[in-house]
Amino acid sequence: MKKFLVENLSVRYSDDNESLRSINMEIEANAITVLFGPAGGGKSTFLRVLNRLNDLADVKEMKGQVLFNGVNILDPNLDVIDLRRKIGMVFSRPVPLPLSIYENVAYGLRMAGERSKAKLDDAVEKALRLSVLWDEVYDRLDASGYAISGGQQQRLCLARVLALEPEVIMLDEPTSALDPVSTSKIESLLIELKEKYTIILAPHNVQQAARVADDAAFFLMGELIEFSSGKEMFMTPKDKRTQDYVMGRFG
Ligand SMILES: Nc1ncnc2c1ncn2[C@@H]1O[C@H](COP(=O)(O)OP(=O)(O)OP(=O)(O)O)[C@@H](O)[C@H]1O
Ligand SMILES: [Mg+2]
Repeated sequence: MKKFLVENLSVRYSDDNESLRSINMEIEANAITVLFGPAGGGKSTFLRVLNRLNDLADVKEMKGQVLFNGVNILDPNLDVIDLRRKIGMVFSRPVPLPLSIYENVAYGLRMAGERSKAKLDDAVEKALRLSVLWDEVYDRLDASGYAISGGQQQRLCLARVLALEPEVIMLDEPTSALDPVSTSKIESLLIELKEKYTIILAPHNVQQAARVADDAAFFLMGELIEFSSGKEMFMTPKDKRTQDYVMGRFG
């Protein structure tokens, strides 16, 4: 099933530079789609479009259409809060809230008006189990969200997103601040989570892209140069520019 259908999407922050140029892409449900390519290619801009975070940046012009479950999410009348609940986002540096581990995970549900202690307890445990953090923190849920390692903090941020039962999880270089062991934990976790969620990842390097991609999109200076299965992209890329980047000749 297609989760997103992106048609002729163009974004510019200023007159002289188009940050995304007429992007067409289909994003599959229950798969990991990676967006990769050199700095400034438009990966983060693309992710921000999908949950309307660009509303908060100074985008000058946005054209085209993005259908999410068949609904155009660029429609100015769209309920953005509802959209962001369905499409969770994890950023590159884990930023726990200055609250306990428990409250970090319960935060979104409390904001949404949930008051029942039993329901919150259940949701917190479920999200921490899904993010494979439960076994490491169940006996200190009242400790500060900062009192755990960087890798654990990133899984805590993921648990905060999962607690809201989203349909899509987007991650923008989620392991760029992590050591190899934590990185590998997050990667295996994403591979498990794709059974239930649609995952869109801007990986922190080509190796990570190749390890996890079901589908891969190569972005270069605002253009989508190539889109294919991960296997094709990293074994037999078609475009010369993709080949050069994948082989490590530039970037
Ligand atoms: N808030 C902003 N205001 C103005 N220009 C921006 C803004 N965000 C991004 N840009 C520009 O848009 C282009 C794409 O940037 P973007 O951050 O989407 O690239 P990226 O592929 O995520 O890069 P990186 O690998 O460094 O994270 C760049 O030219 C960048 O300078
Ligand atoms: Mg980026």
